Order: sequence, then C-alpha cells, then structure tokens
Amino acid sequence: MVRLCVNIDHIATLRQARGGIEPDPVVAAGICELAGCAGIVVHLREDRRHIQERDLYLLKEVIKTKLNLEMSINPSIVDVALDLKPDCATLVPERRRELTTEGGLDVLRKRKELAKVIERLRKAGIQVSLFIDAQIEQVKASQQVGAEIVELHTGRYANASAKEQRQELEKLRMAKERAREQGLRVSAGHGLNYQNVWAVARIEGIEELNIGHSIISRAVLVGLERAVKEMKEIISSARE
Ligand code: PXP
Repeated sequence: MVRLCVNIDHIATLRQARGGIEPDPVVAAGICELAGCAGIVVHLREDRRHIQERDLYLLKEVIKTKLNLEMSINPSIVDVALDLKPDCATLVPERRRELTTEGGLDVLRKRKELAKVIERLRKAGIQVSLFIDAQIEQVKASQQVGAEIVELHTGRYANASAKEQRQELEKLRMAKERAREQGLRVSAGHGLNYQNVWAVARIEGIEELNIGHSIISRAVLVGLERAVKEMKEIISSARE
C-alpha cells in the first residue's frame, strides 16, 4: 500500500501570520501520526517563511514515524540538515519569490553540486531523495549523482485539464518504471488533493505520497485528524 506522509509547512504558515506560538506544527505532527500517517514532511526555506529551526529539532525529538526535510542545497541549509540528521532529505529547487516549489530539480545541469551534497548527507546517515519532473533524463541523472529515492513532481498532473491529465499520468508511470529499473525508490507529490490523488495512488511502484496544502486546508474546516484519515482512505482504496 502507498504510504501517506503529511507536509505540515502550512500549520507554521498560519503561526507565522501572527508571529506567535500557535498553531504549533509539533502538535500537528502528533495528530497526523495518531491519524495514521507514515511520515512528517517539512521544508526549511531559506527565507524561513514557515518552518523554523526550533520546529525541526522538536519534531526530530518527538515524532515516531519519520522526518523528511525538504531543502535547497544552499550551504547554510545543508549545515542545518547535517546537524539535525532527519531520516530523509528531499532536495528541491528554491526561488525566493515563488509561492511554492515550482518545478523539479534540474539534476542534469546541477550534477556536480548535487553529487557533493548528496555524498555529505548520505555519509551522515541521511537518506536522500530528489524532487524531479517526470522525465527519463532526470531519473537517469538522479541515479548517477547518488540519490536513493526520486520524488516525482505531480504539479503538472494536478494543474492539467482532464484530457492532459491522462498524458501526465503516463509520464509519471514511465518515469516511475525507469526509476525502479535503475534501483531507485519512488515517491510523488505536489498539488495532490482529495479529487485528484486516486489516479496517482493507483500507480504500482510509487511507495509514498507527500501531501500538504490540501490536507491542511481541509483540516481548518473539519479538523486535522479527520482530514488525514480521509486522505488515507482514498489512497488505500486506490489499490484495492
Ligand atoms: N513534495 C515537495 C517536494 C514539495 O515541495 C511540496 C510542497 O512543499 C509537496 C510535496 C507538497 O505539496 P502540496 O502542499 O501541494 O501538497
């Protein structure tokens, strides 16, 4: 069964809106775990717009599933990751002014820098995942630079029209197939919600889905535990 990992960045976004102490992403992580998620995902952005160092260290201490840290390869962020030692680091491209991560990493172009960072992270016992577009060349390059996991970017699929969605799903399937052939593990995420997740969750060989915004948005209205459970039910039903 595909595992659900919950990205809790936007709990911190809400906190930062007032610069105070609530809601606390550490409490949110506990609720997500009680609701049955398989991991907690957070992005320490260079501008610290949501998650803060304080959150990372507390999360590392309290969560019982696994901590996946999304991060750029900026040296100061790499230093935090090496000190924190999350279970997994997902390397993502980061632009200051973007609202959210816009595209996958260009592993082909950043081969050298990525290989160095990946080596350091892996030596520290951190699993490394690369967030990439569903393109065969990016999959191949990911394997060459030493990644263990690729997270396929589902944003294009999520934003596509109904007709284009089929093509985008096919690209995800092909990239997944190639990644598995290369010995990589495969996860997927970005833009997945209660309406569009089913078709992605059905793709055999994708082990994990990382979902944030749609779950936290629903949680505001129905509560976090229920929002996580409802997403888990859809995902589980996809491979029955
Ligand atoms: N995966 C990666 C690599 C991301 O950067 C994000 C957004 O932080 C997600 C998954 C989750 O995306 P969403 O919030 O749209 O569910």
